[in-house]
Amino acid sequence: SAAEKGGYEYFMLKEIAEQPQAIHDTLLGRLSERGEIILDEVRLTDQDLRDVDKVFIVACGTAYHSGLVAKYAIEHWTRIPCEVELASEFRYRDPVLDRSTLVVAISQSGETMDTLMALRHAKEQKARVLAICNTNGSTIPRESDAVLYTHGGPEIAVASTKAFLTQLVACYLIGLHLAQVRGVMYADEVAAVVSRLMETPDHLRQLLDTMEDVRQLARDLKTASTVLFIGRHVGYPVALEGALKLKELAYMHAEGFAAGELKHGPIALIDEGTPVVCVVPSPAGRGVLRDKVVSNIQEVRARGARTIVIAEEGDEAVRPFADHLIEVPRTPTLLAPLMTTVPLQILACEIAAARGHDVDQPRNLAKSVTVE
Ligand code: G6P
Repeated sequence: SAAEKGGYEYFMLKEIAEQPQAIHDTLLGRLSERGEIILDEVRLTDQDLRDVDKVFIVACGTAYHSGLVAKYAIEHWTRIPCEVELASEFRYRDPVLDRSTLVVAISQSGETMDTLMALRHAKEQKARVLAICNTNGSTIPRESDAVLYTHGGPEIAVASTKAFLTQLVACYLIGLHLAQVRGVMYADEVAAVVSRLMETPDHLRQLLDTMEDVRQLARDLKTASTVLFIGRHVGYPVALEGALKLKELAYMHAEGFAAGELKHGPIALIDEGTPVVCVVPSPAGRGVLRDKVVSNIQEVRARGARTIVIAEEGDEAVRPFADHLIEVPRTPTLLAPLMTTVPLQILACEIAAARGHDVDQPRNLAKSVTVE
């Protein structure tokens, strides 16, 4: 009913709007006075965490994309090798695991069969399993050694939005915690990142207030035959997530690429008017990468692409190459997906609505897939 949707036309729009609160709630009470992260159900000691020499993240769909972002943060902060794998592939290729491997299973529902089977396989190999989950008491956290619940609240729309952002927050907290217990980061360094994380709900509120242009853009793009997404570093998984949303909701062909791979093939797809959504890294943190993405934008534009550029506020260098510019608040590089993903969620939702589709219940999809 309309009341359940809180005055929004779709649950998805309501859940997108709830994201600042969901991030806030996921951060709330998660830090001890000494700056340590508090896990919910823990059968893992600090010593277990110090013994970890390898991290595997397993997940499906949108949750998998949060894991891809997490890899950049975890390796950067902890210096522990981290691999991310689709849960449905994981156990069938006989991964190398032992008791010093930490397997992080990410699942909104906590009931996804592929993820559950990956977790069981990890446990059989004696690995430690930590769940990131949005559903209290569901199967995946029950079978794990520790849980960090995302406090996103119930997510009704099939396409995941607030769960994704809170999964990112949970991954950041775990990365920082691992770095701290292992002595790779000092408490004050962790606190500095956490204080930037605490700013993100306000920044996201500001961003959500500027989305009218994205709605207009959605109406222009509704007849496109394909939409390409490019990004680098943490912007690469954001590009994959933007493309997935468009496939799920608008039933349009969409594909995400690492911007550096364009020249190795995908650039051949660019034709007159092909929309290309470009996720630009922050000029402050990774200036070199930003410049490379700006060159990629010029390259696709020279071949006729219509460029939709997502960049940090005040990044003037991208302006001349953007047919459409979407500005997001300044955020440290690793945390940027908390901002850059959101216009892509809205874009997909509005294109789907403009094409007359049921945004909350896309065809052929289920909220939680409990078969392998
Ligand atoms: C389904 C949903 C996706 C979701 C995936 C993983 O395919 O349609 O939106 O990302 O499952 O779900 P989970 O509950 O494990 O996060």
